[in-house]
Amino acid sequence: MGTQSIRVRGICVLLVITAFFLTGFLIGWFAKHTSTNTSDDAGSSRSLREFLDEMRAENIREHLRKFTRLPHLAGTKQNLRLAEQIKEEWLEYGLDSVEMVPYDVLLSYPNTSQPNYISIVDELGNQVFSTSLAEPVPEGYENVSDIVPPYSAFSAQGQPVGDLVYVNYGRTEDFSQLMREMEINVTGKIVIVRYGKIFRGNKVKNAVLHGASGIVMFSDPYDYCAQGVQPYPAGWNLPGGGAQRGNVLNLNGAGDPLTPGYPAKEYTFRYSLEEGVGLPKIPVHPIGYDDALHLLKNMGGQLPPNNWKGGLNVSYRIGPGFIDSFKNQKVRMNIQTNNQVTRIYNVIGRIRGAVEPDRYVILGGHRDAWVFGGIDPVSGAAVVHEIVRSAGKLLRRGWRPRRTIVFASWDAEEFGLLGSTEWAEENAKVLQDRAVAYINADSAIEGMYTLRVDCTPSLHNLVYEVTKQVSSPEVGEEGVSLYDSWHKRDNWTNDRDAPRISKLGSGSDFEAYFIRLGIAAGRARYTKNAKTERYSSYPVYHSVYETFEVVDRFYDPSFQRLRAVAQVRGGLIFQLADSQLLPLDASQYADSLTKYAHSIAQLGQKHLDALVTYGVSFDSLFSAVENFTTAATSFHERLKTLDRTDPIQVRMANDQLMYLERAFVDPLGLPGRPFYRHVIFAPSSHNKYAGESFPGIYDSLFDIEHAASPGRAWEEVRRQISIAAFTVHAAAMTLTVPA
Ligand SMILES: *[C@@H]1O[C@H](CO)[C@@H](O)[C@H](O)[C@H]1NC(C)=O
Ligand SMILES: *[C@@H]1O[C@H](CO)[C@@H](O)[C@H](O)[C@H]1NC(C)=O
Ligand SMILES: *[C@@H]1O[C@H](CO)[C@@H](O)[C@H](O)[C@H]1NC(C)=O
Ligand SMILES: *[C@@H]1O[C@H](CO)[C@@H](O)[C@H](O)[C@H]1NC(C)=O
Ligand SMILES: *[C@@H]1O[C@H](CO)[C@@H](O)[C@H](O)[C@H]1NC(C)=O
Ligand SMILES: *[C@@H]1O[C@H](CO)[C@@H](O)[C@H](O)[C@H]1NC(C)=O
Ligand SMILES: [Zn+2]
Repeated sequence: MGTQSIRVRGICVLLVITAFFLTGFLIGWFAKHTSTNTSDDAGSSRSLREFLDEMRAENIREHLRKFTRLPHLAGTKQNLRLAEQIKEEWLEYGLDSVEMVPYDVLLSYPNTSQPNYISIVDELGNQVFSTSLAEPVPEGYENVSDIVPPYSAFSAQGQPVGDLVYVNYGRTEDFSQLMREMEINVTGKIVIVRYGKIFRGNKVKNAVLHGASGIVMFSDPYDYCAQGVQPYPAGWNLPGGGAQRGNVLNLNGAGDPLTPGYPAKEYTFRYSLEEGVGLPKIPVHPIGYDDALHLLKNMGGQLPPNNWKGGLNVSYRIGPGFIDSFKNQKVRMNIQTNNQVTRIYNVIGRIRGAVEPDRYVILGGHRDAWVFGGIDPVSGAAVVHEIVRSAGKLLRRGWRPRRTIVFASWDAEEFGLLGSTEWAEENAKVLQDRAVAYINADSAIEGMYTLRVDCTPSLHNLVYEVTKQVSSPEVGEEGVSLYDSWHKRDNWTNDRDAPRISKLGSGSDFEAYFIRLGIAAGRARYTKNAKTERYSSYPVYHSVYETFEVVDRFYDPSFQRLRAVAQVRGGLIFQLADSQLLPLDASQYADSLTKYAHSIAQLGQKHLDALVTYGVSFDSLFSAVENFTTAATSFHERLKTLDRTDPIQVRMANDQLMYLERAFVDPLGLPGRPFYRHVIFAPSSHNKYAGESFPGIYDSLFDIEHAASPGRAWEEVRRQISIAAFTVHAAAMTLTVPA
């Protein structure tokens, strides 16, 4: 072998070695750079499992017990102390920062030296009957002070005297029936309605609209007692002496009545009480069914339609006033409730995102309660506490989410969503630039049957995915997923063959985030069987009987249901904060828009002649929805081939997903409701709790057959259709190729 060949051989060996190294390097490089997402996603899903498994039923029980010992009404010392306690514990759990954020908002309390009540008076003005001044306090709580008696927050003061008129649930349709069919005029009368079906503020608004001088709301056993269940404490039904507190505002999303649109800080300009948003002009008061029996038993006038009859042993006659033998008796309201600017405190905790700290995922729920808040809100606040604890555990093990997570303990939700709305107002610019999603965490349980979810369409898939990773909390369903349990119990059949998810209405703290700011939002809780259980919300809602025991003894003795809700709420937050690509789905939005467009058009088709006469067509809306569907389909097609190793490409796609919800905001707001700006969803004008789709069009069509000027009314329908069509098309444009 010559030197030549040795050299050649040497070069060959070197080449082989180099090639070997190069191949190794390239394999390593490609492995690292092409499968980052898969290995990241695998790591993320391992962390999700750890995060969910960390949540413990017995911890949730302890949080609930600890937070329900004392009443913590908004604006009181106890609720400030609770805020401080939550702040300290969140810091101990390991959040990066926790701050208290105060506002000075209008609250409303009864006068402790002049209690509120309703009386029956004779012709000399002597009281022959008076309603109770407080609920009988449940056993074990006899020594607790500061239990606020049942009252209607923000009621006007006054002592109106008059005849009673019974108006069923006080809904728009009940008042229409009263006027049009029974031909009864409630001007100057005191209206009495049963609680249930709709938000109480809408009942009050209807009474004011029809000229009533006062309104009494009562809990009827038909609506607040389940069959075969004992009143509390033997069971979970409302006792006869219990009554439902609650605010009676018609804020339409304004937040603090004196500072609409702006945060209620010390320097903020305040309107006078006369100018305040949504304050009722008449006295309002809630009573239980024992007291209602006395007010209703001697009612005269017409017999009611069958569906106006409740569960009391009385005729439910409409009035006005009592039967002849009691004609000399009238009803008098005695209301001395005061409005008062008061300091409230939100607690805001943060986990800084590792990769995109400027993208926020928010989990928020309120802390203030009417009394002990066993269900509302502490079942929810205890769940949030356990989610924070679990996140803290993962942080200590080295985990950090891709995006920033914000935890909020809101104050004064019960007084009109005040804490959450003021914070949304103060941070509106940052939130509209940076907020990915808002998950609400009010009461985690209102029944013992299955899961209930309301959310924006783009979150449907994520909800299904997360509930498949949570176990059913029901006895006898071991090894069954929450998803399957929910699907089976709901028996819901639709084109998708997936469990029912409903539209968001309002009545809790997501309102400003979703409907004013256009941030994707959702809520989840455990609920009753809507098919067989007709009672409204849950029987002891907003009464002194919402204790720790009502949950511990009846709703969730094993605390497995609350744990499942914690895992759903926590799982949603986790996936939104940690997935490389945002788990939001534009195609599901397209499907929902298609459905809503058909149903609103169907409502219009009921007036075929008018549509022709006034030249009204839904074609533009259908065209916009079609454009949106096409854009959403191509968007998700493109996502499949997105270069996930290119952070700019990923961020561009994520921004399109995040800003999609924002695109449905009309800065001008809905007619007469400037803070309801989402063109696709708003709380119903007739029931704040319910969601309405294409609310602008819906409201313009409502009762249009009775419009004073049909020409003008149909003009408004045309205007609303064009706004909806424009907005949907504009949203579609945000999904197109950004070139
Ligand atoms: C409560 O009523 C008392 C007695 O009428 C009155 O002196 C007091 O000013 C009232 N309190 C408020 C806050 O209005
Ligand atoms: C309430 O206070 C009384 C007197 O101080 C005491 O005897 C009683 O045990 C207390 N009850 C409860 C439930 O704490
Ligand atoms: C109801 O009665 C008031 C006064 O008693 C009257 O001004 C009003 O026009 C009446 N409303 C209707 C719809 O008849
Ligand atoms: C209902 O009331 C009537 C008259 O007040 C009474 O005679 C009757 O026994 C009551 N029925 C029940 C079931 O309580
Ligand atoms: C679903 O079906 C089961 C069994 O038929 C029934 O008991 C339950 O009430 C149904 N639930 C709903 C929400 O319809
Ligand atoms: C839908 O897209 C088509 C084609 O770009 C356009 O002509 C039409 O105006 C769009 N519809 C609406 C309501 O904007
Ligand atoms: Zn609540």
